[in-house]
Amino acid sequence: MSNDSAVVHDPSPILQAAFGFWSSKVLLTAVEFGVFTKLGSRRVMGAELGREVGIHPQRIGDFFDALVAMKFLGREGNGPEAVYYNTPAGTQYLDRSSPRYVGGILEMLNTRLFKFWHDLPEALRTGNPQNEIKHSGKPMFAELYSDPARLEQFMGAMTGLSRINFEAFAEKFDFSKFKTLLDVGGATGLLCTEVAKRHPHLRCTSFDLPPVEPIAKKCIAAAGVSGRVSTAAGDFFKDPLPKADLITMGMILHDWNLEKKMHLIRAAYDALPPGGALVAIEALIDDERRENLFGLLMSLNMLIEFGDAFDYSGADFRKWCGEAGFKRFEVMHLAGPASAAIAYK
Ligand SMILES: C[S@@+](CC[C@H](N)C(=O)[O-])C[C@H]1O[C@@H](n2cnc3c(N)ncnc32)[C@H](O)[C@@H]1O
Repeated sequence: MSNDSAVVHDPSPILQAAFGFWSSKVLLTAVEFGVFTKLGSRRVMGAELGREVGIHPQRIGDFFDALVAMKFLGREGNGPEAVYYNTPAGTQYLDRSSPRYVGGILEMLNTRLFKFWHDLPEALRTGNPQNEIKHSGKPMFAELYSDPARLEQFMGAMTGLSRINFEAFAEKFDFSKFKTLLDVGGATGLLCTEVAKRHPHLRCTSFDLPPVEPIAKKCIAAAGVSGRVSTAAGDFFKDPLPKADLITMGMILHDWNLEKKMHLIRAAYDALPPGGALVAIEALIDDERRENLFGLLMSLNMLIEFGDAFDYSGADFRKWCGEAGFKRFEVMHLAGPASAAIAYK
């Protein structure tokens, strides 16, 4: 026996990843039951909280205490007299009444992606998507957008995922040379509103499919920036993009195959003046594809959702934009796994 095989390695990382779905499902179920929202700023005894969210009395302790051990709930005391409360992070991100609620994406993970990821093996073997399209035959956006409740849920999911990235972009990027911004696939208009709040000299337009426009108008008005942020409705594969000095695409290019990615990059090039810039905000994969696990998993999620769509690195973006005629490139880290890939015309 060699010395090497006598070394006992730590199996914890393997087991942690393998059992990860247990923790994930506990958190997603707590969001589904409205635990954090119902708690709000209260301190509530386990039995009472369990009754409020509808949990079988025998399972109250395990469920809430697992959330305590995961640090998503706080608990004062032990046993039946203990009271549960929201942690500061839970209050900010998991209580639906908070403006920074991220639960929209957790709700979508729970109702859609948890079950679709069960079919990852089939997706990997066939290269085919594993979402609603398997049953309805309709592509994802057509399927989700045919039902106002699911459209609303998808928009909430995008807000949950993108808010901190758009805030970081609005803070860090130098907007001084630009007068107009077009956000392609702008969903609720969140990128435009975050930029407009901080940079009053900019006129911004959020462009998306027609069913999304009323939602965007409502959110832009609620943010109090209707005077400087407008909406435009269209299909970015059928219509030319409205002209602007700065074009942003938040999680747009990753939704499509290479041919469609190139269509969108060329459409942006045509809509920009010389000196204009295209910015893609994504969980950009590191060039060596070793570090950004979230970006790599997001790319597998694009397999689940679309089949031939995939996430990409800054080097990929640079190559594609170079082919379209862009001259200069940079990558700016935003928040967590997200970065902005920037190409200048
Ligand atoms: C993954 S979401 C990203 C939303 C937002 N940019 C963000 O990063 O949070 C993709 C967006 O592209 C929009 N979209 C999809 N197909 C489109 C098309 N053909 N024309 C215009 N917008 C489209 C969707 O409605 C959706 O809002």
